[in-house]
Amino acid sequence: MDNPLREGLIQERVPEPLVLVIFGASGDLTKRKLLPAVYTMTRERLLPAAFAVVGLSRFEWDDDRFRAEARQGCDTFARRRPVDETLWSNFGRSLHYVAGEFDDPEAYERLKARLTEIDARYGIPGNRLFYLSTPPSTFPVIVERLGKAGLVSRQLKPWTRIIVEKPFGRDLGSAQLLNRQLKQFFREMQIYRIDHYLGKETVQNMMALRFSNGIFEPLWNRNHVESVQITAAEAIGVEGRINYFEEAGILRDMVQNHLFQVLCVTGMEPPVAMTADAVRDEKVKLLKALRPIPREKMDEHVVRAQYARGRVLGESVPGYREEPGGNPASTTETYVALKLLIDNWRWGGVPFFLRTAKRMPKRVTEIAVTFKPAPHLMFARNGAPPVPNVLSIRIQPDEGITLHFGSKVPGPSIDIAPVNMEFRYGTSFGSEPPEAYERLILDAMLGDGTLFIRDDETETSWGFISKVHEAWAEQRRKALPGYPAGTWGPPEAEALVKEAGLEWRKP
Ligand code: BG6
Repeated sequence: MDNPLREGLIQERVPEPLVLVIFGASGDLTKRKLLPAVYTMTRERLLPAAFAVVGLSRFEWDDDRFRAEARQGCDTFARRRPVDETLWSNFGRSLHYVAGEFDDPEAYERLKARLTEIDARYGIPGNRLFYLSTPPSTFPVIVERLGKAGLVSRQLKPWTRIIVEKPFGRDLGSAQLLNRQLKQFFREMQIYRIDHYLGKETVQNMMALRFSNGIFEPLWNRNHVESVQITAAEAIGVEGRINYFEEAGILRDMVQNHLFQVLCVTGMEPPVAMTADAVRDEKVKLLKALRPIPREKMDEHVVRAQYARGRVLGESVPGYREEPGGNPASTTETYVALKLLIDNWRWGGVPFFLRTAKRMPKRVTEIAVTFKPAPHLMFARNGAPPVPNVLSIRIQPDEGITLHFGSKVPGPSIDIAPVNMEFRYGTSFGSEPPEAYERLILDAMLGDGTLFIRDDETETSWGFISKVHEAWAEQRRKALPGYPAGTWGPPEAEALVKEAGLEWRKP
């Protein structure tokens, strides 16, 4: 539902005039996410009047072709559709294209000339937001070429900022190296390492839920919480990204970044303020408190597996090794489950179970906090276990929050049955949450790094994940468990939670 009072209002926060330069302009992300997000932001009047986009990639396109591709992307993927023709005639004209190889110094000279011309035409004072939507192997060369071409300024006005897509490195060493390469030309406050999970409304709402209500925080600790489960299940397989996925595996693809960010917002201490550094300080503290897993105990804490053929949502699908272009001997994991312990006062002894996988029965991402049972059970019949109190925060789809508790069944006897108290975004706010990329690109334009990853955060998280990879590398000959596509994972993962007297949720 549109709020009529909002009409004609411009949001409080509008960025200064700028040019957004997208490296990898012919890529999938640009078409599906970035340009549709920028178009929707324009439509919602979140962008300044003096604004332009320059796309750069090696395809020999011109402005018209780039605009046509952008239009197609917006027609298919923009959140606010159909595309408004009047708006598009202006928006389309603000899209420009430069063809060039990422390592060719001349491409950067052409880019520079184009930027100067655009600045003059639109009255833009030289503010630049570079977006690296390219394969990670190209990040260092792009940064260096930008720097050497004099396209990066450390000044505050006009400003230069850079958004770096994932994956940010593939282990601790490469993440550290990339940080050093970026810092040759950029200051930390100019670097925006993106994790689109932080742009999701529901992930941000976790902070709002915890820190803007008085009732949750007193219970949010080892005295009242028994365990926490974080699930990010996907029904899809590798979707034509087999080469990338074969190298990455799901631990790198989902846990090091997205799941650890969700873990951080669930477990961190309240920041002293909602400022970028105050929030990120708390996240780093939480990551530093993760108990290292001894190499010889890795299998007791981390279970990995790979999907075999099966049926997902009624369709027969191939196993991971049979995917087009797949390696029949692949040992890349498509499922991972971890039991983590956090060594601090708040969480001492509370297990955090994380799991994520491709080809699960359905797509669901949720955080489930299970509270300790009542100390004395007057109503338990025939030894029936009490209804567990679970607060589940649904990140996607059907975004919302559910509190699960026991209630008396109407009638003459006292029987307790599980019931739910629900909040749904759709019904409460009458609208779907905005796209993560809209929020994040806007924040970077505004210079707000709160929802981006700081250098120490990415390195601390890689430090933990790299240890798991090192342990796995030593077990190379060990058979990798399988799970049929369309199931909730291998039996080995059940053992992980059973030991703590628990079961995996079937959300
Ligand atoms: C990406 C991963 O970062 O996140 C993909 O590379 C994954 O493998 C995707 O499918 C999941 O994002 P979302 O927003 O659909 O949960």
